[in-house]
Amino acid sequence: MLNKFMIAPSILSADFARLENEIKKVESAGADWIHVDVMDGHFVPNLTIGAPVVKCIRPVTKLPLDVHLMIENPEKYLNDFAQAGADYITVHIEAVKETENCLKQIQSLGCKAGITLRPGTRLDRILPYLHLVELVLVMTVEPGFGGQSFMKQQIEKINILRKEIDKNKYKALIEVDGGINIETARQCQNADVLVAGSFVFKNDYKYAIEGLKAAKCN
Ligand code: DX5
Ligand code: ZN
Repeated sequence: MLNKFMIAPSILSADFARLENEIKKVESAGADWIHVDVMDGHFVPNLTIGAPVVKCIRPVTKLPLDVHLMIENPEKYLNDFAQAGADYITVHIEAVKETENCLKQIQSLGCKAGITLRPGTRLDRILPYLHLVELVLVMTVEPGFGGQSFMKQQIEKINILRKEIDKNKYKALIEVDGGINIETARQCQNADVLVAGSFVFKNDYKYAIEGLKAAKCN
């Protein structure tokens, strides 16, 4: 486990008219990854951005692009996101048809594979795939919108995942997404990577990112 959190600002809360500038600002403020929320208006009741935007932002940052697919039929779009320059591609267990195939397809496209679940989905659903993935994402809000409140009942999932990963020496990093601020970050000690949208973009970026990193007690 890492001794500081890695921070993945979600560009969902950025100013899209100034996206290049926003990404450069969070990068120089210490961000580790850039989190890209892809929504299709079907899997979640909101529409955001797709692979063409990932392609545009790829050359503006050296940071890994962490693409969170909240879409139906994710299999259909994996190639587009890989070609666009995604580093991590995370799919929802509720949306994939053949989970193992899908994760292996992501890896065969040269990307790192992530698996995630809605807050209401039992952790058992993803445990059989834990040995396959580079990333497991615990949703601490209902996917679809930024700015929601952290669901603390989800912390148990983080703790169980930590035990499973350590016990079996799996490579997966644990990421948490939704309602992250300094106070809720402190409750996620067993995580490795924190996604933060509104907390980063509504505050001074450096203050927010450094504060979140330091929320890990060593
Ligand atoms: C929610 C998205 C999150 C969202 C987080 O569906 O997956 O990544 O941007 O935003 P905050 O940090 O504002 O909860
Ligand atoms: Zn997300």
